[in-house]
Amino acid sequence: MIPVRSVDDVMEMAHSYQKSMALFVALRLDVFSALAGGAADARALARGLSADPRNLSILLNAMVAAGLLAKAGENYRNTAVAQEVLSDGPRSMRSILLHHLNCWEEWTGLEKKIRGGRRGSGRPPDYQENFIRGMEDNSRERAALVAGRIPLRAGERVLDLGGGPGTYAVEWAKRYPDAEVTVFDTPETLRVTRKILREKGASRLVRLQEGDFLKDPLGGPCDFIWISQILHAYSEKDCLFLLRKVRQALAPDGRVAVQEFLLEESKTAPLGPAFFSVHMAAMTEGGRAYSASEVVSMLRAAGFRNVSADRPDHRGVRIVSGQVS
Ligand SMILES: C[S@@+](CC[C@H](N)C(=O)[O-])C[C@H]1O[C@@H](n2cnc3c(N)ncnc32)[C@H](O)[C@@H]1O
Repeated sequence: MIPVRSVDDVMEMAHSYQKSMALFVALRLDVFSALAGGAADARALARGLSADPRNLSILLNAMVAAGLLAKAGENYRNTAVAQEVLSDGPRSMRSILLHHLNCWEEWTGLEKKIRGGRRGSGRPPDYQENFIRGMEDNSRERAALVAGRIPLRAGERVLDLGGGPGTYAVEWAKRYPDAEVTVFDTPETLRVTRKILREKGASRLVRLQEGDFLKDPLGGPCDFIWISQILHAYSEKDCLFLLRKVRQALAPDGRVAVQEFLLEESKTAPLGPAFFSVHMAAMTEGGRAYSASEVVSMLRAAGFRNVSADRPDHRGVRIVSGQVS
């Protein structure tokens, strides 16, 4: 094993479960044996494996990103290592790998076992606290970079939609004291946000607005709406609905910026967003990672103009911006 030497190594170690489960599910479905005889597309595979074609294609793309499958056009095939050890055959390792999948259940109860107790069920009570504080961990460094790249004009009204811990909102509010910056999020999340803002001494810098952005009015008019790491939790239909609502909440010269882990057009790279897409398929009803051109198309369909995407950072994070007029 490679020793952990940096924050990236720690994050890689923490996210490893996503690669394990994606591989286990592909094995359980027996994707690699289904491809042992030759290439096939997601639809044909889904029929043969009794799977959902959309979610199966997300999984297959991640397997391509991981180097276990290759893709030409719409067709997938096993790479040499997958053909040898993951499909049926004399050197197959399927049984021991499926045994490890059978151990997974026990692993989820590991903490309780270590504590000497028994396993329970449901979300742990600190789920939302860790989730929202985790968003702060993720965005701490990037917020300064983003606020430097997206300047505000005097006195602008900014809405950080699904702003979570408010990391980006606070960064803009600090740089532009005359801006009116609001974090819109659910009551459950804003309970945690309030604590984080108090701890940072930033409670007075931003306004908090409770609501469900799909159901409740967004307020406005706003000059700038920031939508960071939100779309991936929702289907294309819900994203488009939300972006239309966002456009309605903007002033006539308002602008929008969407930040996401974006896939390349093949949807098989980069590795991080490809696995993140599997994570969203597992965690949400309709979510997945999108490609830059998908987000560009959604913004255009919502009525935005001058839509363009910037270059990805080392984790595949990109910003797609647009204007009302
Ligand atoms: C992945 S976090 C991103 C947080 C922050 N924008 C960032 O980039 O660090 C998603 C946030 O969206 C919020 N959210 C998700 N669905 C929502 C909804 N329907 N209405 C309001 N907020 C929502 C969550 O509570 C959470 O704070």
